[in-house]
Amino acid sequence: MKHILDELENRRALAQAGGGAARIEKQHAKGKLTARERLEILLDDGSFEEYDMFVEHRCHDFGMADKTVPGDGVVTGQGTIHGRLVYVFAKDFTVMGGSLSLSHAQKICKVQDMALKNGAPIIGLFDAGGARIQEGVDALGGYAEVFQRNVLASGVIPQISVIMGPCAGGDVYSPAMTDFIFMVRDTSYLYVTGPEVVKTVTNEVVTHEELGGAKMHAKVSGVAEGAFDNDVEALTQVRRLINFLPASNREEPPHWPSFDEPERLAPVLDTLIPANPNMPYDMKELVASVADEGDLFEIMPEFGANIITAFGRLEGKTVGFVANQPMVLAGVLDIDASKKAARFVRFCDAFEIPLVTFVDVPGFLPGTKQEAGGLIKHGAKLLFAYAEATVPKVTVITRKAYGGAYDVMASKHLRGDVNYAWPSAEIAVMGAKGAVEIIFRGEAGDPEKIAARTKEYEDNFANPFIAAQRGYIDDVIMPHSTRKRVIRSLRTLRNKNLSNPWKKHDNIPL
Ligand code: HXC
Repeated sequence: MKHILDELENRRALAQAGGGAARIEKQHAKGKLTARERLEILLDDGSFEEYDMFVEHRCHDFGMADKTVPGDGVVTGQGTIHGRLVYVFAKDFTVMGGSLSLSHAQKICKVQDMALKNGAPIIGLFDAGGARIQEGVDALGGYAEVFQRNVLASGVIPQISVIMGPCAGGDVYSPAMTDFIFMVRDTSYLYVTGPEVVKTVTNEVVTHEELGGAKMHAKVSGVAEGAFDNDVEALTQVRRLINFLPASNREEPPHWPSFDEPERLAPVLDTLIPANPNMPYDMKELVASVADEGDLFEIMPEFGANIITAFGRLEGKTVGFVANQPMVLAGVLDIDASKKAARFVRFCDAFEIPLVTFVDVPGFLPGTKQEAGGLIKHGAKLLFAYAEATVPKVTVITRKAYGGAYDVMASKHLRGDVNYAWPSAEIAVMGAKGAVEIIFRGEAGDPEKIAARTKEYEDNFANPFIAAQRGYIDDVIMPHSTRKRVIRSLRTLRNKNLSNPWKKHDNIPL
């Protein structure tokens, strides 16, 4: 018997050695951890149960028959994060560059199937050179099997991708269909085709970093939901994110013990809004002062920073905060902000996470660049997302709510459940200056008359009371009581029962 047990240990050791000591050393020299080291950080101590450690590829072409490594370049299995079940796969770059063979794909599909069946999140760690070139169409088919499962799992279980090395070719589309992509700065890059192909096809000379680095994707393209400085930070932040998320759309998010008083007042908010309506202020102060212990997990902090999207908790339960940020582009809604917030709102709605929206928005960004970029369709994404959302929606207008952007930002008319305004709210078709210039064009040459008209407009519209008179605003609240009022509203909405008409699926403007 002993020799049988030894055989198992030997086989395990072989699989655990991955591509061998020299390649592991190379991996470390690049500032990257190995697949197994990463899983150790991601998962609770000793919780990892590995599957398919002995799987090998079955390719015989191009001398591949002699090149087998047990595990075949991906470590898969399940474990826990703060005691909650998650499924994982981690590409092992030390084994044929983490490239995807048919067997490798089948391993990933197995954990995808188990995650979906058992209602638990799946986290993929990417560090790979794309399709295993020697396997041809088997590798292409393997990718498509993974993609198909990504789509079926979308909206059922949270899917998270962490890019921790190269991620090119077939490897990019699975992360793209997951809920969140995080990247590691300086050591990861994500692109459909690398710099060599780009040079051949377009004659453009670019570096890996410029083409698909974390800085570019987290700030410019919006492909990544966030970027972190190294492997350890990225993995510990994913652990933190998991704490905010439900295991599936059948379960509630975990209840986190909170010592923050629900009735806590924040007098500092009474002076948050500057006297000059054109002066910015930091909306993050409001979001942090409302959330339990000020604890937030921001999604896309660098991209479309004119809108804030963040998970937080109220009375220990997860909520999704969406808030215009007057510090960036005056909090305007543009293409990037609309796309970013729409996707966040849809995630929250899919997973029954209530939405708390703070509004200070001067409207949609005008201009040829925005119109040519499709602002109408992109802005409509956010409108659509809020309108279709059936989760509890509590909205607070702090200052401007102008034009179409008033409608879009979880207004009463889009089935906002409880809509509050601060006394400083201004709810109007547009700001006073623009409005007077249009409706009193004939008086443009008379500064006194224009000043009087502007004052008249401000008196009428630069306040929340007309909207409150019509019932579009349920109450005008003191800024310091915002947390208390939002929490009380959410309590009343716990048993909210609202559904949309039956349909196969909607046709959100893509
Ligand atoms: C087989 C691969 C491989 C691949 C890397 N390797 N990519 N083996 N298929 N796709 C192997 C290398 O031969 C090498 O083996 C080891 O992995 C490490 O690779 P290096 O090139 O030495 O590493 P590095 O210099 O760090 O460069 C990493 C890299 C480069 C930039 C990712 O390997 C690369 O460009 N690979 C090819 C990328 C690519 O074109 N993939 C196909 C995309 S097409 P040894 O034995 O020397 O250690 C695609 C289509 C699918 O994916 C579409 C589905 C929708």
